[in-house]
Amino acid sequence: MREYSPFVEKAKAVLDRNWTGTYTMPSQGIYPHQWNWDSGFIAIGYSHYNTGRAVKELQGLFSAQWQNGMLPQIVFNPKRLGSYFPEPDFWQAELSPNYPRGLLTSGITMPPIHAYAALKIYERAEDKEEARGFLEWIYPRLISLHRYLYRERDPLGIGLACIRHPWESGMDNSPMWDRVFAGWDIPEDEIPTYTRKDIQSEEATAMRPDDRSYDRFVYLIEIFKRHKYDERAIQKDSPFLIYGPLFNGILSASNEALIILSEILGRDGREPAEWYEATNRAMREYLYHEEHGMFDYYDIVKRRLVDVETAAGFIPLFSGSPTEAQTKALYDYLNSHSFCALHHGSCFSIPNYDTQKHDFDRTNYWRGPIWININWLLYHGLGRYGFREKMMSVMEDILELVKLSGFHEYFDPYKGLGYGSDDFSWTAALFIDTYHDMATLYGGEG
Ligand code: SER
Repeated sequence: MREYSPFVEKAKAVLDRNWTGTYTMPSQGIYPHQWNWDSGFIAIGYSHYNTGRAVKELQGLFSAQWQNGMLPQIVFNPKRLGSYFPEPDFWQAELSPNYPRGLLTSGITMPPIHAYAALKIYERAEDKEEARGFLEWIYPRLISLHRYLYRERDPLGIGLACIRHPWESGMDNSPMWDRVFAGWDIPEDEIPTYTRKDIQSEEATAMRPDDRSYDRFVYLIEIFKRHKYDERAIQKDSPFLIYGPLFNGILSASNEALIILSEILGRDGREPAEWYEATNRAMREYLYHEEHGMFDYYDIVKRRLVDVETAAGFIPLFSGSPTEAQTKALYDYLNSHSFCALHHGSCFSIPNYDTQKHDFDRTNYWRGPIWININWLLYHGLGRYGFREKMMSVMEDILELVKLSGFHEYFDPYKGLGYGSDDFSWTAALFIDTYHDMATLYGGEG
């Protein structure tokens, strides 16, 4: 552990550099605004040493919550416009009657890690009275977010929340979307003219989503605008409506956190308890892929599983959702050559896509590299089910990758090289959290 301790200070320095006074940028380069689930993970990092910032991070984000409860994927900083695409002029989120007046946001959401983060902030806060004040503030907003997801994002009424854009999944250009996009016949004139800002170098072009994916990303935004962000109208018209195990696994864990928050605040926790049961049941029933031995994505439009093996398929471990038999299958697959087995020696865990697939790509964004937030979710899931050795190995890889290559956005599963942005905030924040968890396992800082 001693070898990693200097990196805790370095991680804090990354967060200091990216802190704007009201929120933390994911990174200084292409992500200068406030991102939804990034802020959740970042707040978890701050919860260890700066409750004030953790609270501000979430308060800033929730101040931009839409009137229907949706928590936007991006809250734009008006002073930093010009370096990202798509910005508010493209989203035209003000077309929606639910838009938060006076603020600039995108028109989609992201995996709701925030109730989980709020609970961590409370648990680690020294001043419980003050932290309780924060919980009083955020609790109704969290309930409103979850109510929105169950009320407006569950077209089949089965207890799952769907996503309507790949960016809502968190895994923008994962191979699963190739399967979903297959067969889409979009007339050229329905793809608007746009200029990407994320591919300024040859290296970035090779590691970021391709133009074909971006055409589909913007095409979907056109559908949202056409329907003024009305969920029901979008659901009738859009070719992209997906129930997924990452979004719902995180939603479920946040429901579990809401049950505890209800107890702390003396509120009625029956609603989150019902959500927790319903979502876990629905994941087991609708998202489990028997042959793969892992959870999958469900395409609501095509009424079938997407048939893809990504690390997202293990995330329901994080929320305690799988049955015993499912857990065994998940573990066997997670700890196989496909995702870097224990004692394998020549790889780091957990690549984001089955390394044995023909379209696995070790350097491209969500098509193969390791992401620290996914590792973090998975080591908690492994710990929850008692897979201690594997849990420790995933934790060690988080610490080791940072030690080797710095606080990068994503990492090469074989060489451990860092890719994408450096000084990436959630890598720093979750390094801090992992370091603390590891120190606790070792019984001290030693
Ligand atoms: N990750 C996305 C991007 O690269 C947005 O959430 O722009």
